[in-house]
Amino acid sequence: MTTVDFAYRRASPADALVLSTLATQVFLDTYATNGINPDLAKEVATVYSPEVFQSRLGAASIDLVVASAGEYAVGFVDVDFATTCPVEGVRGAEVFRLYVQRPFLRMGLGRLLMSKAETLALCRGVGSVWLTAWSGNHRALSFYKSVGYQDVGDTEYVIEGKSYENRVLSRRLASSGADLERSNWS
Ligand SMILES: CC(C)(COP(=O)(O)OP(=O)(O)OC[C@H]1O[C@@H](n2cnc3c(N)ncnc32)[C@H](O)[C@@H]1OP(=O)(O)O)[C@@H](O)C(=O)NCCC(=O)NCCS
Repeated sequence: MTTVDFAYRRASPADALVLSTLATQVFLDTYATNGINPDLAKEVATVYSPEVFQSRLGAASIDLVVASAGEYAVGFVDVDFATTCPVEGVRGAEVFRLYVQRPFLRMGLGRLLMSKAETLALCRGVGSVWLTAWSGNHRALSFYKSVGYQDVGDTEYVIEGKSYENRVLSRRLASSGADLERSNWS
C-alpha cells in the first residue's frame, strides 16, 4: 500500500470552490454510475455549488475539516451541530458529508477524518454522532460498520421528488483527554 502524508486543517470560506469541486467529483463518482441524468445534474448545480459550500463554511454550527496531500485537497468531513436526527431519540452531531477522492481510498483517510469529526463533537460537549447513508452505498455502510457505527433506523433522501432509502447510523463516543489535547490542530 502506498503511504501518503496527509495534513488536516479546518476549512475556511476561502476553500469553498475547491471543496465544491472535490465534492462534485466524489458525488458523481459514487452515484452517477449509469451516466448523468437531469436529477443528478440539478443536485450538483444546487447542493454542491460553491455558494452552498461558502455558506456552510461560514456557519458557526458547522465544522469542516479538509485533508490534503501536498497542495491538493483529497478529502473532507463536514460536521453539523444544528441538525435533528430523523430517527426519534437519536441525538448528537451529524456527520453530514464524508468524502475521500478515489485515488486515496483504503489508505485510512476516511477513518482518520471520522476520528477528527468525533473529536470535534467531544470538544463541543456532544457525546454522540449520527449520519445517514444511502442503503445502496455498500462501501460506505461497510466503512461505517468498521468504525463502530450501528444501524438505528431509516430515512429518505429526496432528489427532484424521488425518494431514496437511507440508513441512519449512530455511535456513542467515549471521550479521552488525550484525544481532546490532540485535536488542537487548527
Ligand atoms: C466511505 C469512504 C469515506 C471510506 O473512506 P476510506 O478512506 O476509503 O476508508 P478507510 O481507508 O479509512 O477504511 C477503513 C475501513 O473501512 C472499511 N472499508 C472501507 N472501504 C471499504 C470497501 N470498499 N469495502 C469494504 N470495507 C471497506 C474497511 O474495514 C477499512 O479498513 P481496511 O482498509 O483496513 O480493511 C470512501 O469510500 C468515500 O469517500 N466514498 C465516497 C463518498 C461516500 O460514499 N461517502 C459516505 C456517504 S454517506
